[in-house]
Amino acid sequence: MNVLPRGVRHIAACLDRDEQIALVEEIRAVVEAAPLYRPEMPGTGKPFSVRMTNCGRLGWVSDRSGYRYQPLHPATGTPWPPIPERLLALWRSVAAYPHPPEACLVNHYDAQARLGLHQDRDEDDLAAPVVSVSLGDACRFRVGETTRGGRTTSLKLVSGDVLVLGGEGRLAYHGVDRIYPGTSALLRKSGRINLTLRRVTKPEPDAS
Ligand code: SIN
Ligand code: FE2
Repeated sequence: MNVLPRGVRHIAACLDRDEQIALVEEIRAVVEAAPLYRPEMPGTGKPFSVRMTNCGRLGWVSDRSGYRYQPLHPATGTPWPPIPERLLALWRSVAAYPHPPEACLVNHYDAQARLGLHQDRDEDDLAAPVVSVSLGDACRFRVGETTRGGRTTSLKLVSGDVLVLGGEGRLAYHGVDRIYPGTSALLRKSGRINLTLRRVTKPEPDAS
């Protein structure tokens, strides 16, 4: 078992099979209201291999002009649907942070999709962790230090696992090396869904 960087917590089998099934149904409804689309890299406009959508007051988007959070779906122009209560409850149980998340990025990986090493740093409140939920096919996840080019380690994330990047691990570089197709029967089609819950704005004092 690899040693994870400080602040990176892997909660294996955090969601049981019934919870995963219920969550997939809720995410299906999110995707019906806010369809998956293919973001583009800032500058070059190169399409991501991962398709994305969001739920929550704010959603993370990327296009030629950059990365940002915004309240509207870039293709439909409508607000993102709310974050399912089940995910808010998960955040309350694992985040150790007193305010709710505002954004939930939904990533869909087909067999060929990958996500290069990056930091999640578009949020104003870095005191809150990033809480990530894996559903469907397993992946090889890579996580490292908070500097580019630092040492990295890999671990397998399977359906129902939760990963928390918090404290010293909040700005750890991370990415998805590869998907292991056909390793889960949870989704109707094969593939992997990852949900990342984030707090974006700094809370007002004494408010949530
Ligand atoms: C992300 O970094 O946005 C997603 C990570 C993952 O798919 O596990
Ligand atoms: Fe990320």
